[in-house]
Amino acid sequence: MWSTVSNLESDSVHAGREDLRDLGVHVPPIDLSTTYPIHDLSLATQSLDALAEGDADTANPIYARLSNPTVRRFETALAELEGAADAVAFSSGMAVLTACLLAARADGGHVVAVRPLYGGTDHLLTSGLLPLDVTFAEAEGIAAACRPDTSLVILETPANPTLALVDIEDVVRQAGSVPVLVDSTFATPILQRPLEHGARLVVHSATKFLGGHGDLMGGVVATDEEWAHRLRKVRILTGAVLYPLAGYLLHRGLQTLPVRVERAQRSAQLLARRLADHPAVKGVLYPGLAAGDPQRLVGRQMKGPGSMIAFEVEGGYDVAARIVTEVRMLTPAVSLGSVDSLIEHPAGLTHRTVDPEIRRQLGITDGLLRISVGLEAPEDLWSDLNGAIERARNRPNEAPPRHLRSA
Ligand SMILES: Cc1ncc(COP(=O)(O)O)c(C=O)c1O
Repeated sequence: MWSTVSNLESDSVHAGREDLRDLGVHVPPIDLSTTYPIHDLSLATQSLDALAEGDADTANPIYARLSNPTVRRFETALAELEGAADAVAFSSGMAVLTACLLAARADGGHVVAVRPLYGGTDHLLTSGLLPLDVTFAEAEGIAAACRPDTSLVILETPANPTLALVDIEDVVRQAGSVPVLVDSTFATPILQRPLEHGARLVVHSATKFLGGHGDLMGGVVATDEEWAHRLRKVRILTGAVLYPLAGYLLHRGLQTLPVRVERAQRSAQLLARRLADHPAVKGVLYPGLAAGDPQRLVGRQMKGPGSMIAFEVEGGYDVAARIVTEVRMLTPAVSLGSVDSLIEHPAGLTHRTVDPEIRRQLGITDGLLRISVGLEAPEDLWSDLNGAIERARNRPNEAPPRHLRSA
């Protein structure tokens, strides 16, 4: 059994709340102001200049696109959990990744990325929307892929949707002076703290585990002061700010994060083992199974395998598509990290924009399903999943839709 217990549990509850005692309140106030009264122009000008340079804490926030105290509390707390000097929150995970790529451009127009990545991230890199030259490389090939104009190396571990793990320290060593960005959405700071392994930027789609209840969109990056300044400047210019109410909910979500992560992980281990023994399951991708962690990174890089599982069913698309229509307790939906369990079909949904040949190479097959294990009783989840698999196997075949048919 993996243990996630540490003083992170106390930090999760108390970080970003240091001034509540002086304020005489038990929970943080929510500041929804879009603008702030300016009674002293020269003081306000100083604040404005500092914010424009990327400073975070000024006498006057001036305007909500520049700064917000409620969002700042969440940033402070998240930075503490990641062991970072600072953190910058955005309106979504994609907004964070876009800001990081834009901020990196100052150091060169070339980016190296390790697949698999969330389909949206992959699409952002291949779409040509951003003025970047992108090289996709294996984790072992980073040194060879880096050029003098490489400004960022991007990776996900565990990766969406195959749960592939990447050795962060090894990538950092290969990247040399090039900053390494780790999307740690699947791990959360409870299971993995990439900065301790040499990463420069840790990104989360806060929409997922950090919020934890499927009711907000957000993104956050934990990093050093220099990068935090750069990213705040991008945020001011692009306007992809986190709504303060979401900032409040995220700050609250952090308080239960260790408990949610630990509990969901326990259930995921049970489901992964049972799925691995199921005759209708071709393979299970889960870092808690030996095959899912060939480099033995769980224990060294991660405190535990987490609560995301992918598995491939016999019968390909047809059976996989039926399973998601047959579940009753799990919700058939994209996204992850919520209190309720979700199941989705990566080739058809989250990774649909990835080239089918690349999907095949990455193991994102038509029979692959991804589960985000929530907080329901594990035996109930198993009974639901097992029943759905049985019913799906016993129904007649249907042709897969055109977009998923094999060439
Ligand atoms: C690993 C990962 N990174 C980034 C994102 C994008 O986050 P958002 O949907 O909050 O923009 C997602 C979304 O699913 C994700 O799974």
